[in-house]
Amino acid sequence: MKALVIGSGAREHALTAALSADPGVTSVHAAPGNPGIAAEAETHPVDVSSPVAVADLAVALSADLVVIGPEAPLVAGAADAVRDRGLVCFGPSAAAARLEGSKAFAKQVMAAAGVPTADSAVCVGKEEAAAALDRFGPPYVVKDDGLAAGKGVVVTDDREDALTHAAACERAVVEEYLSGPEVSLFAVCDGETALPLAAAQDFKRLGDDDRGPNTGGMGAYSPLPWVPATLTDDVFESVVAPTLAEMRRRGTPFTGLLYVGLALTPGGPRVVEFNARFGDPETQVVLPRLRTPLGGLLHAGAIGGLAGAGPLEWSPDAAVTVVLAAPGYPGAPRTGGELLGVAAAAAVPGARVLHAGTTQGDDGSLRSAGGRVLSVVGRGADLAAARATAYDAIGRITLDGGQFRADIAAHAAGDAPVAP
Ligand code: AMP
Ligand code: GLY
Repeated sequence: MKALVIGSGAREHALTAALSADPGVTSVHAAPGNPGIAAEAETHPVDVSSPVAVADLAVALSADLVVIGPEAPLVAGAADAVRDRGLVCFGPSAAAARLEGSKAFAKQVMAAAGVPTADSAVCVGKEEAAAALDRFGPPYVVKDDGLAAGKGVVVTDDREDALTHAAACERAVVEEYLSGPEVSLFAVCDGETALPLAAAQDFKRLGDDDRGPNTGGMGAYSPLPWVPATLTDDVFESVVAPTLAEMRRRGTPFTGLLYVGLALTPGGPRVVEFNARFGDPETQVVLPRLRTPLGGLLHAGAIGGLAGAGPLEWSPDAAVTVVLAAPGYPGAPRTGGELLGVAAAAAVPGARVLHAGTTQGDDGSLRSAGGRVLSVVGRGADLAAARATAYDAIGRITLDGGQFRADIAAHAAGDAPVAP
């Protein structure tokens, strides 16, 4: 099987690595990829925002399986374009990707399906937003209805800040604050049947102790020793199955990865958000633990063949990933800094470096080219070991002004944060 991965982040690097490890996959291509992906797969240029360009490339390569990583091409219809050309694609149609593309749509589906989530109101303009903010009270949660690359959500006690954000959105979803630890649960879906992947937790805030602004994610770990053993079954019953049924009922079945972001509130798990693709950075720690070959699994998902595919097999190992971000991230990242020590980090036993925003300079140097630059994934017998490996490795990398959190998985591993 020839696989093609669309995207250029650390998630796509993790997908490429896992597909390469599948004995049923003969070659992995990626587009556009990045320097780390290019070391493991053949990369091709592509305009990811153009569904036609994505489909043309898949046809030119005669790909047997196309996996679309990011949300923007899915929302734009890349999976439809690939399937229209008769090829197999793991990823939802544009209509089904609205579960991520519009928070208001996701709320409608959840309401119709009886899925537990925060009460919410869709608001246009300051007046409607003000009324909704006062109805729910602080802490205020205001979300841009549309795709916002992880920057559309404001959670604040400051009513003025909440109002300002709502006013800046064309449509805003104002909702009730959900308290409790967050868990990311992935479901591989074929429209009808869904299989759970191992749960993970990500760290969305820039700074240690969850301080600072929201980011695309600064680290993650899996497994989660502290969650109830029944969580996955409960969430499949209360969230995933009814959501898939509702999407079928609407004539837009969901095929691909349904990312369920949960808050474990005192009243039980409730959905914070849906995404229509693999989460990043969670994928970096979930896929290395999956023993079931990924290519076969995603192919089965894409062709409606999951009914006979489970259960999945998992390594008992733990994985921890730590993201290295550029100076100025997430506001205005400064790029172009030289990365040193990447090979030394990759040589640490149990560590793997995944590239995101990197570029190879003309002089052969590796430089930062994005807000989240790279990640280091550590694997070990338990979280403490995986964490020690990840921090040992990332400590060997230098990037002027580079930022990473010192406390990824610290609490779950039962250790103190590592000094950066
Ligand atoms: P999202 O982009 O929807 O994942 O939101 C980003 C982050 O904002 C989430 O991971 C939560 O930490 C926080 N958040 C979103 N919705 C809520 C909510 N209703 N209550 C509390 N926190 C929330
Ligand atoms: N980890 C959050 C996301 O992928 O959106």
